[in-house]
Amino acid sequence: MGKFCFVIHPLSFEDVARYEPGAAGKGRPIVSKILEWMPSYAAAHVTGVRAPDGRETEGWFVAAPLLPQQMLDLPREEVYARIVRAIEIGAQLGAQIAGLGAFSGVVGDGGVTISQRASIPVTTGNSLTIAAGVESFFRGAAEMGVDPATATAVVIGATGSIGAACVRMIALRVREIVLVARNETRLRKFHETIADELPCPSSYTTALSAAVRRGDMILTATSSTQEIVEPGDLKAGAVVCELSLPHDVSRRVALERPDVLVLEGGNMRVPGEPRIMRVREPGREFDLGLPPGTALACMSETMTLALEERFESYTLGRGIDLERVLEIERLAKRAGFELADLRAFDLAITPEQLAKTRAAAAARRAVAS
Ligand SMILES: NC(=O)c1ccc[n+]([C@@H]2O[C@H](COP(=O)([O-])OP(=O)(O)OC[C@H]3O[C@@H](n4cnc5c(N)ncnc54)[C@H](OP(=O)(O)O)[C@@H]3O)[C@@H](O)[C@H]2O)c1
Repeated sequence: MGKFCFVIHPLSFEDVARYEPGAAGKGRPIVSKILEWMPSYAAAHVTGVRAPDGRETEGWFVAAPLLPQQMLDLPREEVYARIVRAIEIGAQLGAQIAGLGAFSGVVGDGGVTISQRASIPVTTGNSLTIAAGVESFFRGAAEMGVDPATATAVVIGATGSIGAACVRMIALRVREIVLVARNETRLRKFHETIADELPCPSSYTTALSAAVRRGDMILTATSSTQEIVEPGDLKAGAVVCELSLPHDVSRRVALERPDVLVLEGGNMRVPGEPRIMRVREPGREFDLGLPPGTALACMSETMTLALEERFESYTLGRGIDLERVLEIERLAKRAGFELADLRAFDLAITPEQLAKTRAAAAARRAVAS
């Protein structure tokens, strides 16, 4: 049986209690300081992941317990060392491949240096995240009755590892695409290299709010540690697919924009009867912050590679090969992974809610026109 480990870390101060229940209610400066000094550790043991053909894998979630902002601010070497140490803990437990969760795959060069320093192959899991994200993006549009062929798509984080590949895939099906990031030089150069090969008109901008105002369909895949998509900027009936962790869309959208469909794009249903148990407190489940039996697409890529016994550094860096995206999508489907039910703002989206969102969108569009 192929075995995996996957590096996890808290996404916000509130999230720290999921890792260390004792942290609940403690002041932010204390929590920050504790995390700065806390070594990597094995947080959870994952069993019961089983493909329809009977293949199984097990693995460990290993924590490199730093917040996203700490991953960006602390000396790079220190952060790399913490992540590599987490992988080595996984390897000692038997893992033959390691996945990099959230900012552990963002920091520095997107896993390249980490893979050179780790004793087992490493993947960011971004290939399956791209496949699942694009599928969710178009599923959201279908749910809202938005026809991609007449829609303006906006990709925020367009020069990133995930965003750049999403641009190429989304452009195949929309009327027009707008690329957004902060670094204008990098954005312009990236746009120059791909504009001719994109099958639809394209443009780029660093003016995020203005771009959001144009979007019928928006995908976010940024390394921002703050919310950047605000309720007032969204077009009537817009669809927003969020891949970023932590999230980019302001929680106020849930309250103030009943006509907008926001969905978490990277969640997948795991085949078998997956169990995620805490290592330090035997008998207690580890709360992944997702519905039971659900994992992030990047975790799912790591599990798929373990099931396939493909112990190779499958996805690294920023220039992801679309062939790999299609291949891992096919392997994951064969292993029984599928898109999870729609979810936004940490809650399931019910069919009733969808109907209400569609009705609110129609009403708002009517007012707007
Ligand atoms: N859901 C999942 O399963 C899953 C899996 C893997 C990763 N992720 C998440 O996906 C996100 C992207 O990962 P990645 O590996 O593609 O990161 P990346 O390669 O570092 O790319 C980040 C992109 O975001 C842009 N950006 C950063 N801050 C921004 C801001 N404030 N406004 C606009 N653009 C901004 C960056 O360009 P500039 O620096 O020029 O702005 C770049 O284009 C991360 O949040 C990661 O945690 C999710």
